Amino acid sequence: MSVDVLLGLQWGDEGKGKVVDYLASTYKVVARFQGGPNAGHTLEFDGIKHVLHQIPSGIFRADIKNIVGNGVVLDPVIFKKEIEDLAHLGLDARKNLFISKKAQLILPTHRLLDAYQEEVKGSKKIGSTLKGIGPTYQDKIGRQGLRVGDITLPGFNKRYKALRDKHLSMIKNDEIAQNIKELEPPFLEAIEYLKELFLVGSEYLINEELAANNKVLAEGAQGSLLDVDFGSYPFVTSSNTMVAGACNGLGVAPSKIGQVMGVFKAYCTRVGSGPFPTELFDETGEQLRNQGHEFGATTGRPRRCGWLDLPALKYAIMINGVNQLFMMKADVLAGFDVIKVCTGYELEDGTTTEKLPYDLVNQSVTPIYKELRGWTDTMPASANYNDVSEPLKNYVKFIEDEVGVPIKIVSMGPDRSETVIR
Ligand code: GDP
Ligand code: IMO
Ligand code: MG
Repeated sequence: MSVDVLLGLQWGDEGKGKVVDYLASTYKVVARFQGGPNAGHTLEFDGIKHVLHQIPSGIFRADIKNIVGNGVVLDPVIFKKEIEDLAHLGLDARKNLFISKKAQLILPTHRLLDAYQEEVKGSKKIGSTLKGIGPTYQDKIGRQGLRVGDITLPGFNKRYKALRDKHLSMIKNDEIAQNIKELEPPFLEAIEYLKELFLVGSEYLINEELAANNKVLAEGAQGSLLDVDFGSYPFVTSSNTMVAGACNGLGVAPSKIGQVMGVFKAYCTRVGSGPFPTELFDETGEQLRNQGHEFGATTGRPRRCGWLDLPALKYAIMINGVNQLFMMKADVLAGFDVIKVCTGYELEDGTTTEKLPYDLVNQSVTPIYKELRGWTDTMPASANYNDVSEPLKNYVKFIEDEVGVPIKIVSMGPDRSETVIR
């Protein structure tokens, strides 16, 4: 069996949580391979909305193993709270949750460093979620991070304190540094809690599941345009959000990757700073934000909104080898007379390109738009694609023809049931 990978193709928040939840029943394992509590994946069913940050989105299905892979950075405090919140709903997540001993630990001082580094950057700040993601990956690559498996080894406390003190000496802002007093006790408590969970060699677990012919779904976090190598650098996250990240982040060989499923919104959003060529600063942007409830699932920040960017989408499809697409939030575009899609950019020197330029930070580009007719559809009662209107079908067909990959699902609402399959 192979590992199917589900990825966001834009700047995150494409609706990955909904799709994983929708598809989960056909898998035996759902695994997160990168990122951490910067993610907020929303699932809606039976009239309840759940937002998961670190727990894989297969957790609501009793027969699915949910794995937090080695590529993830894990905040024990947030993780404990997530498990406790699920317990309030009567769900014992601990039974189906396996955490790689090789996942990196987010320490309280990683969060403080995140805040400090952002403050130092001033107007050039990334707009990080302040969850400590960047500093934790910095320590991983700098070969000084602490891993989940370390918590059971002798000398953990000493190593923790040494790294904490090193971090504190780097923070030249007492107001930020003093927060350690408040953050440390719950951290140490959560470390004890973590010890009771299944801490495993997840690379063995996943490969054994594959050998036993069980299907694995790798659940991406963030999106390809936030990838540390291929995103709008430096306004990116600190992990490889693309398909290759699933190999690194789970310990599966490229030859084991099966379907690569790409999730995109019918328009674009972005939270935090950084280039966004099709961003709308006018009433139309405001309308998208209101109709799409575009406020961050992790930080509550308003999301920047704009039209669909095809060069960026094609780029994400190319670097990931996406072979099926899921188009989300088609219902949000209902009511617009005209819908624009960016098909290329005009550069400052007057030339045009259909490729994503290297530099979008110092160079401004002007999107070239194609206009398409809008629609007024809501979710068809029949759940049948034949029953959606011609303008919406034309939009789907236009994108498919442009990108050369089939759109298998058109999502028409946040609920699990509001999903049209083609
Ligand atoms: P993720 O990070 O990719 O899992 O996406 P988020 O959960 O951060 O953001 C997606 C938001 O859109 C959530 O509030 C979802 O409930 C919602 N959503 C997902 N699909 C649809 C859809 O087709 N229509 C509408 N209106 N909302 C959707
Ligand atoms: P999901 O999985 C949207 C953005 C932040 C910031 C940049 C770096 O829900 O799609 P970080 O905290 O990672 O150092 O922040 O990346 N960002 C996200 N934007 N969805 C996410 O996750 C994100 N995770 C990080 O806003 O611009
Ligand atoms: Mg999200």
